Amino acid sequence: MTEALLPREAEVVERIQESSTIFTLRLRMTDTEAHARYEFAPGQFNMLYLYGVGEVPISIVSDPEDDHLLDHTIRALGRVTDGLARLEAGARVGIRGPFGRGWPLAEARGRDVVLVTGGLGCAPVMSVINYVTKRRGEFGRLTIIQGVKHSDDLIWRTQYERWAALPQTQVLLAADVAGPGWHGAEGPVTVLFDQAEIDPERAVVMMCGPERMMQASAHLLLEQGIPAESLWLSLERNMQCAVGHCGHCQMGPHFVCKNGPVFSWPEISDLFGTPGF
Ligand SMILES: Cc1cc2nc3c(=O)[nH]c(=O)nc-3n(C[C@H](O)[C@H](O)[C@H](O)COP(=O)(O)OP(=O)(O)OC[C@H]3O[C@@H](n4cnc5c(N)ncnc54)[C@H](O)[C@@H]3O)c2cc1C
Ligand code: FES
Repeated sequence: MTEALLPREAEVVERIQESSTIFTLRLRMTDTEAHARYEFAPGQFNMLYLYGVGEVPISIVSDPEDDHLLDHTIRALGRVTDGLARLEAGARVGIRGPFGRGWPLAEARGRDVVLVTGGLGCAPVMSVINYVTKRRGEFGRLTIIQGVKHSDDLIWRTQYERWAALPQTQVLLAADVAGPGWHGAEGPVTVLFDQAEIDPERAVVMMCGPERMMQASAHLLLEQGIPAESLWLSLERNMQCAVGHCGHCQMGPHFVCKNGPVFSWPEISDLFGTPGF
């Protein structure tokens, strides 16, 4: 069996409850040498194995250059993620990775970064926000555009307030349904695009969330003059091997586990949103 298919053991160093269904598992491999060798890029993911239950792909949200603990922010919604939600510090899981191609951060350096996310604390985009806000001087304007179904779904409210206070940073929030005390817009995430200060020539756009939301956002941004090759999307598919062997994640000619999960718009636009893909 190749090393990429063999899970290593990792210890849960800490479990942080982010909201009623979202939690972060902070992991460290028990093999200290393997842990020290481990390198990843924002946007890549690990396969987390809950022993005896199953394995799921989860994005890595920690900073690649921090104290080297591996943070995974997870929504409990099924068999494996519900089980992972019950783990406490000291528990062990299997870990394989990192896998896939992450965000185009080298290309984005010196340019404006526009992040469009839908849903509950979209983990792949959180990794970019963390990365860019820690290296604010290396990037131009940062625009964070976040949509949620209900305003109560927005987790990390204080973080959004902190980011909005950073220099050259714009944070725009929308909720399909606005509850009491909501100061953001009401409607889908696309209602925010008119307020976003985006320079099409300088912007690199990175998106994650439900595919219909990403499709609508991509079309609007293209209409606003963003070049197709400046639009990047993180996709989710059912995954088993994560190394391009089993075909579970296949989307036309692409293996989302290996060629993605981050794709540029020209790479996938012909298949994106097509039933069956
Ligand atoms: C590259 C990649 C990165 C990911 N990163 C993260 C992450 O950082 N955090 C995180 O919480 N999740 C992430 N996911 C999604 C996560 O892998 C799934 O939620 C998980 O596999 C569900 O497994 P389960 O056994 O808990 O649920 P299951 O028992 O398999 O499913 C329970 C229910 O959820 C539905 N479901 C399963 N997967 C998804 C999905 N991807 N989207 C919506 N509904 C789904 C099923 O149809 C079913 O109704 C990522 C997925 C991919 C492909
Ligand atoms: S998960 Fe097996 S080919 Fe992608």
